[in-house]
Amino acid sequence: MKINEQLEPTVFVIFGGTGDLAWRKLMPALFDLFLDRRLPQLFSVIVLGRGKLADDELRHHLREGVSQFSRLGKVEIGQWKQFADQLQYLQGDYDKPETYSTLENQCTRRDKEWGSKAQRIFYLATPPSMFGEISKCLGEAKLARDRKRTRIVIEKPIGYNLSSAIALNNSLADAFDESQIFRIDHYLGKETVQNILAFRFANPLFEPIWNRHYIDYVAITVAEEVGVGTRGGYYDGAGALRDMVQNHLMQLLCLVAMEPMVSFDANEIRNKKVDVLHAVRPIHHDAVHQSAVRGQYGKGWLSGNEVCGYREEDGVALESQTETFVALKLFVDNWRWQDVPFYLRTGKRLTRQASEVVIQFRSVPHQSFPPEASIDWQASRLVISIHPNEGIVLRIQAKHPGPQMHLRTVEMKFNYQETFSAPSPDAYETLLWDVMKNDATLFMRADQIEAAWRLLMPVLEVWAVAPPSDFPNYAPGTWGPEAAQGLLLHPGHSWPLPAEDPKRPWCPPCQNPPPAK
Ligand code: BG6
Repeated sequence: MKINEQLEPTVFVIFGGTGDLAWRKLMPALFDLFLDRRLPQLFSVIVLGRGKLADDELRHHLREGVSQFSRLGKVEIGQWKQFADQLQYLQGDYDKPETYSTLENQCTRRDKEWGSKAQRIFYLATPPSMFGEISKCLGEAKLARDRKRTRIVIEKPIGYNLSSAIALNNSLADAFDESQIFRIDHYLGKETVQNILAFRFANPLFEPIWNRHYIDYVAITVAEEVGVGTRGGYYDGAGALRDMVQNHLMQLLCLVAMEPMVSFDANEIRNKKVDVLHAVRPIHHDAVHQSAVRGQYGKGWLSGNEVCGYREEDGVALESQTETFVALKLFVDNWRWQDVPFYLRTGKRLTRQASEVVIQFRSVPHQSFPPEASIDWQASRLVISIHPNEGIVLRIQAKHPGPQMHLRTVEMKFNYQETFSAPSPDAYETLLWDVMKNDATLFMRADQIEAAWRLLMPVLEVWAVAPPSDFPNYAPGTWGPEAAQGLLLHPGHSWPLPAEDPKRPWCPPCQNPPPAK
C-alpha cells in the first residue's frame, strides 16, 4: 500500500491525553488509521497531561487501550513500535503560560526537522469545564493564529444549557475562527448515519415521496441496554436529554428532515441541517407534558442478569431525579413536514441496544383488496438501522403464493456486512481523518448547537422546577415508561419495536404466519 501523501504534515496534540477518551477511542482510531496507511507521512502526537510520565510509560499505557479497542485486532509488536515512536508525552498545567510556550517550541522543532510548516491540531480530551480556559491560553500563546493550519477539536457536551453553550462558543471564537473549530458528535462519523445522506440524495426514488403527503410519521430510537456504568458522576448532572437528545438525536432528525443540499460543501450541508432545527415547532413551557416524557430505570432483570436501579449506581445521588429515558414528539413546520410527528426516544437499560430511524408511510388511499386478503396488511415502512444491524429495510406488501389473493408483509433488505467486504471504520477514525483533511462536514457548527439547545430549553426548565413524582418509573429490559405511549398522536401510531435478533434483525411483524386458507 502506498503511504498517504495527501495529508499535510501534522502535529496532533491531545490535552488530557492520558484519560479514558484517548485510551479507548482516540489512540485506537489513530493506530487503525496508521495501519490503513491513512495518517500523514510526517506525523507526530504530543500527549499533554498534568502528571509525571516518561514517554515509555505513556506508550505502554496507550498500548493496552489500543490492544483492547483497535478495530483491526491484535497489536503486532513491529507495527506498534513504528506507531509509538511518533508519540511523545508533555507534562504541564493547562492554565500555565509555560505549558503553551513549551508546546510552541515542540511544534516548531518538528517544523524544522520536517522542513515544512505542519498543521497543528489541538484535541481537547479534557473535562468540558476546561475547554474555555485551554482555548483562551492557546489564543494568548498565539498558537491559534494560523487559520489554515491550526484547528481545535472538542467533544460534546457543548455547554450545559443554552447560555453556557453560547458562552463556550463565544470564548472559543475569541481565539479561533469558526472554520478552525471542530465539534465532535461521534454519531455523525458512523457509516450508517452518513448513509442517510447517500440514501436520500443519491437515489431519486424516494425523494418525491419524502414528505407529508406520503409519510405518516417518523420515529427515531436510540436504545441502549447498558446502564450508566462508571459514568454515574457525569451522567447524574446531565441526564438523557443533555447526553443524547441535544446532540445525537437532533443530528439524526436533521439528516432525515433536511432539504437536498446543492453541493457537498460542509457549510451548505450544515446550513440545510440548521434550517431543520429552526423549523422545529417551539415547545411552550405549558405544553411540555404533551411533548416530552421522562423516565428513570429502577432495579430488575435484563438479559438474565439482575441489575441495580439508577439510584444505586456509583456516583448517582440516592434521590436522583435525573432522567435516563426521554421521549419527545416534535413537528417540523415547513412545506415538507407540516403536521408529520417526529417521535424521538432514547434511554438506558432498555430491552436491547438498537439505533434506528423508522419512516412510516401512509396507508393506501383506498383499500381495494377484499378484507380476507388483507388480514395481515400493514402500511409500508422504511427502517434505517444504524446499530447494531447496519442497513436498510423496506417493508412492503406482496401476494402470498397460492390460489387465493392473500397479502403478506415482506422485506427488501440491504445489509452493510453482507454487501460490502470492507469493514466499516470506527466513527473516530472517520472524524479524526476529516479533521486532518480540514473537512468540517461531519462536525457541528456553533449555530446548530445553539439552535438545538434553544429548542430543548423549555423542557429542561419545566423539568427542573417540577421534579418527577414517580421515579424510578420503568424496569430494566422494557422500552421505558408507559407514559411514552401518551405522546402518540393517532391510534394507528406506535413506537416501533426495534429488531430482535442480530442475525435476523428486521421487524418482528413480518414473522406472522401466512393467513389460513
Ligand atoms: C455518548 C453518550 O455520547 O453516546 C453515552 O454520552 C452513550 O451515554 C453513547 O452511551 C452511545 O454511543 P454509541 O455509539 O454506543 O451508540
